[in-house]
Amino acid sequence: MKKLVIVTHPNIEASTINKKWIENLQKNPEKYTIHSLYGEYSSLDFDIAKEQALIEQYDEIIFQFPLHWFSTPYALKKYIDDVFTYGWAFGEGGDKIQGKKIGLAVSTGGDEEVYKAPNGIPVKELLNDVILVFKFCGAEFTDLHTLYGAHNPDENALEANTKVYAATF
Ligand SMILES: Cc1cc2nc3c(=O)[nH]c(=O)nc-3n(C[C@H](O)[C@H](O)[C@H](O)COP(=O)(O)O)c2cc1C
Repeated sequence: MKKLVIVTHPNIEASTINKKWIENLQKNPEKYTIHSLYGEYSSLDFDIAKEQALIEQYDEIIFQFPLHWFSTPYALKKYIDDVFTYGWAFGEGGDKIQGKKIGLAVSTGGDEEVYKAPNGIPVKELLNDVILVFKFCGAEFTDLHTLYGAHNPDENALEANTKVYAATF
């Protein structure tokens, strides 16, 4: 079954990591559908019915984005606010997310040490709110793939990380 990768990156042309990840996934079009929120909606005025219909077609979804201020980019927050509606994602009759598998692929500018306990907060913990949304709506959270130190990526490390991403999801 094909997986839906929902990418939130405000400037993908200037991206190194998220662009590389997308290019790699695109080598397997039978396995992944790439859906770029900024690519389709520069105004972030989402077509809710269209987005819901798209999500309904997939059993597994990966949300891919750069970490912005220790959280999701605001466009993804808006997407979830707009698209995960009462009666669709939750509440009476709201069962469309139920049973889906949802994972995250996240790049961070900060190095790994920044996100290590005890002094740092792990990325998975920072993203607890969005993971909670998925669980609240009845999805199973699968995995978090991360690339740290995105501003200074070693080419070989990025290549290896990109392969791990595809092997994870
Ligand atoms: C508005 C904004 C906020 C950011 N906040 C963080 C942050 O809180 N922590 C962090 O490690 N990196 C932060 N970054 C850096 C991005 O995560 C980093 O540029 C991105 O992961 C690089 O991926 P790319 O090559 O695909 O653009 C921020 C970048 C922007 C533009």
